[in-house]
Parts: sequence; structure tokens; C-alpha cells
Amino acid sequence: MKGESLLSVSGLGAGYGKIQVLRDVSLEVAEGEFTAIVGANGAGKTTLLTCLMGLLRPTAGSATFRGRSLFDLSAHRRVELGIGYIPEGRRVFAELSVEENLRVTATRRPRGAAAGEREVLERIYGHFPRLAERRNQAAGSLSGGEQQMLAFGRALALEPSVLIADEISLGLAPIVVDRLFELLGELHRAGTTIILAEQNARLALEAAQTAYVLEAGRVILRGPARELGADPKVVDAYLQHL
Ligand SMILES: Nc1ncnc2c1ncn2[C@@H]1O[C@H](COP(=O)(O)OP(=O)(O)O)[C@@H](O)[C@H]1O
Ligand SMILES: [Mg+2]
Repeated sequence: MKGESLLSVSGLGAGYGKIQVLRDVSLEVAEGEFTAIVGANGAGKTTLLTCLMGLLRPTAGSATFRGRSLFDLSAHRRVELGIGYIPEGRRVFAELSVEENLRVTATRRPRGAAAGEREVLERIYGHFPRLAERRNQAAGSLSGGEQQMLAFGRALALEPSVLIADEISLGLAPIVVDRLFELLGELHRAGTTIILAEQNARLALEAAQTAYVLEAGRVILRGPARELGADPKVVDAYLQHL
């Protein structure tokens, strides 16, 4: 149901060895909500998302996802529960073809998923005709933009109800960025919950409903994304340098 609490994170701490990065981070995401996490390079956005995905173990805090204790679930289980992930820096399997990359995720969908694998792949090719043209080509031979489309498509092959995306605009041509954001909007309108980390605050705040500003591992602001993006005091103080 739209509006119900889906993900609730409280007092999250995390870091690498002795380096503490996140401090007391709390997050509330409703079913169907589009949330942006913005902040400068090094603010802790990726660290936060990897904790949500189960790729980094938090040092403090708790989280619930659909009533379950999130941090007790393996990374694999979180994917099975419908949390799709587009990692920072794309990371596709370079040696595998485009289609093989997509199938790796499509086969991880829960048993009894509504659509057949072929149908899911065709839907992704519908979103990204470039991937259809290159379906038999090795992923490592694609351009940066095409690899990002593939990383995006791979997350969609899971038919996720929640999509966690890390810096999808980084280093890409504006026309590709526009297409990826357009697709985020379409997915959101179709009911997908989206959590997007972006250094490009302007883009993210235009697209999202709710935004969190991270600075040095802490949430320093939270509010309606457009209001944050339009408030000159906020922009001057926190977002101008982004
Ligand atoms: N694997 C790692 N080992 C040690 N420090 C790391 C590692 N990954 C990130 N960091 C540090 O954690 C901080 C937050 O990084 P990160 O979460 O990647 O920020 P962001 O995604 O906002 O750019 C930075 O100071 C970064 O140098
Ligand atoms: Mg990052």
C-alpha cells in the first residue's frame, strides 16, 4: 500500500576498520516513495546504500524492512525480497554478453514471479533499445552510458519493488542521464519505491519527493525534495558546492 512505512532505519553507524563514516543516520521510506540522498563526494552516500544492501555490516543502529529486521537478512535474501541495486561505478560482468548479464539477475527472481524470463528481458530491451541491439556483445565492450543502462537493466531484471541506485548520472552524457531519470520517474509512477544517491543534487531534488542531505556521515537536513532544492538558504549553505 502506498504511504505505509516500508523501510525504517534508526541510529545507523558504519565505517571501515577504525574509520567511522556514518553516525546516527535515520531514514524513513514509505511504500512507493522516491527518496534522494544527496551530499558531496565522501559524505557517506555509498556507505549508507551498501549497509542497506547487506554488503557492509553496520556498527550501530537498527532497521526494519516490511516488518523484518533488515540487518539480520543476508544480502542475497534482501535481493530475493525485491530490493534491486544499481551499484556505483556500474560493475557489469565484462566478459559476459549483455543478455547473459541480464539473465544472471532474472534467474534470481523469486520462484513463481508473474512474468517469464523472456518477457522480463523484452521489457528491459523495450526500456533500452540500445541493449537489444547489443544483446550478444560482451558487456566490457559497451560505452559507459550503455554499461550504466545494463547495470540499470540488470536491477530491473529482478522486477524489484524497491530500487536502490547509486550515482547513476556520474560521467554520462546528458542525453543518457535524461533517459535514466525519465525511467526512474516511470518506475516511480508505476509504484516502485526508489532510493537514489546522487552528487548531482539539482537533478535528484527535481526527481525525488523526499530528500536527505548527508554531510560527513550525518543527516544534516531532511525534507520535501523540491522545497530543499528551491530554498536559497539551503542551496547557499549546503548544496551550492555539489
Ligand atoms: N572501502 C573503504 N575503506 C576505507 N574508507 C572508505 C572505503 N569506502 C569509502 N571510504 C571512506 O568513507 C567515506 C565515505 O565514502 P562514501 O560512502 O563512498 O561517500 P560518497 O558515496 O558520499 O561519496 C569517505 O571518506 C571515503 O574515503
Ligand atoms: Mg558514492
